[in-house]
Amino acid sequence: MLRKQIAAANWKMNLSFQQAEQLLDSLVAQSHSLSDNRQVILAVPFPYLDMAKKKTSLIPHFFIAAQNCYSKKAGAFTGETSADMLVSLRVTHVLVGHSERREYFSESNQFLAEKIDASLAAGLTPVFCCGEALPVREAGTQNAFVAKQLSESLFHLDAEQLKKIIIAYEPIWAIGTGKTASSQQAQEMHAAIRSELQKKYDAATAESISILYGGSVKGSNAAELFAMKDVDGGLVGGASLDAAEFSTIIDALK
Ligand code: 13P
Repeated sequence: MLRKQIAAANWKMNLSFQQAEQLLDSLVAQSHSLSDNRQVILAVPFPYLDMAKKKTSLIPHFFIAAQNCYSKKAGAFTGETSADMLVSLRVTHVLVGHSERREYFSESNQFLAEKIDASLAAGLTPVFCCGEALPVREAGTQNAFVAKQLSESLFHLDAEQLKKIIIAYEPIWAIGTGKTASSQQAQEMHAAIRSELQKKYDAATAESISILYGGSVKGSNAAELFAMKDVDGGLVGGASLDAAEFSTIIDALK
């Protein structure tokens, strides 16, 4: 089975509603003709989800994601958004465990496991983000660090559930810094992640899962990163806010 090759945008907390409409109109106007194994996923702010879904619903292989959801099904959790609410907006994907949520909102591996369960139970595809900070990389312990993130948030799933997940490796030192991991560094970690999946599950499961790279992906470096054997596309922050730049990234998919 061919792994899905994915260009995912994470707009984070950027753009007004009107700017978001314009960006979507520009992206849609580029009319990318995506082959069946390619996808574009746009993780937009909560208030723009419905508008984004309406603007892209006729575009093949375009999907709308939320940037977060809560772990509980419903109830007295003021300010939170459930996975079921997202599904009711025809949202199909959700980012889980972005490093900014881990850092600024103290989201632990255990809490993220609950969000993974809630997302899967609602029928959403989680995009599970993992990755190490600079001191971990400098100590040379990044593989063990990421393996722990995977095991504590994902490895309670059975193989069929795991196959529904997309993984994004985003080294924190490369996010928003302009300092991209080299294609070699990305490939090494992606291969290490796949090997953890193979150890815990099996080769077929490990081979079926798309692993995206995130951290200062741009139009100018996407093709080199995406060409690596185990890099199945990217999760893009800053460069996804510019239609032309993000279109170049979409076109760089294998
Ligand atoms: P940048 O592409 O701005 O480095 O952000 C990466 C990211 O965090 C995507 O989720």
